[in-house]
Amino acid sequence: MLRIRNLTIAYDHVPVLERINLDVARGAFVGPSGCGKTSLLRAITRLLQPQTGTVDLDVAPADIGFLFQDDALLPWRTARENVALGQRIRGVASPAAEEQASQWLASIGLAGFEARYPRQLSGGQRKRVALAQVLALEPRLLLMDEPFASLDAIARTRITEELIRWVERQHLTVLLVTHDFEEVITLSDVVYVLSQGPGAGIQARHAIDIPRPRHVLESRGHPRFAPLLQELWDELAGADVAGDSA
Ligand SMILES: Nc1ncnc2c1ncn2[C@@H]1O[C@H](COP(=O)(O)OP(=O)(O)O)[C@@H](O)[C@H]1O
Ligand SMILES: [Mg+2]
Repeated sequence: MLRIRNLTIAYDHVPVLERINLDVARGAFVGPSGCGKTSLLRAITRLLQPQTGTVDLDVAPADIGFLFQDDALLPWRTARENVALGQRIRGVASPAAEEQASQWLASIGLAGFEARYPRQLSGGQRKRVALAQVLALEPRLLLMDEPFASLDAIARTRITEELIRWVERQHLTVLLVTHDFEEVITLSDVVYVLSQGPGAGIQARHAIDIPRPRHVLESRGHPRFAPLLQELWDELAGADVAGDSA
């Protein structure tokens, strides 16, 4: 789905990422704060022009959904209106789009919250609305940049669980950058570990050999989970893996 060859990203001639090569379908990127994860995602979405190299993505731009750390909900629109927005922009009439939006909200556990404004929702609920908003566009590829970093552990686990259901049911492909190893191990087929920059490269690649369908809590009990967590931790030990939200 994604093929990257000889990719170098630089700001003011200082390379952030250097000579990256990878092929990935469902995967994740982890790495220390400031190593270039967001830059990599921006290069994948063509928001950023790399210094050298190519990014081939086997999906049309209209089939790509984005979920970032800061949710992009419109504060003056209700949850339902926010979710309906994408369909409205695509020309679906308002009543039909809002009816669909209500169904999306119900499907991720927000029935009864349709008429609330973002400020009347918890962080976890807002994130669910943002997720419903992107899923409602029925993307083939979902790109996520530390999407659930602002949530507490329980809200994060719950929303990851919802997301896994969609990923597996719709054969949705997810590419994720994150600090959260659990998110990586439960959502991805492969994880790339980026080294500390400047001039960061791929330090390691791990296949996540835990069978699907997966569930967050059950995955934690899988015999491969603890060793994978330990390997990722060891590779990133010493680097700032705790506090980044850059
Ligand atoms: N627009 C920019 N101009 C100059 N430097 C930038 C810009 N965006 C990011 N950087 C620098 O590039 C490096 C990688 O940033 P980023 O991709 O956001 O890292 P990460 O997401 O892994 O924390 C950082 O040192 C950051 O300061
Ligand atoms: Mg970042």
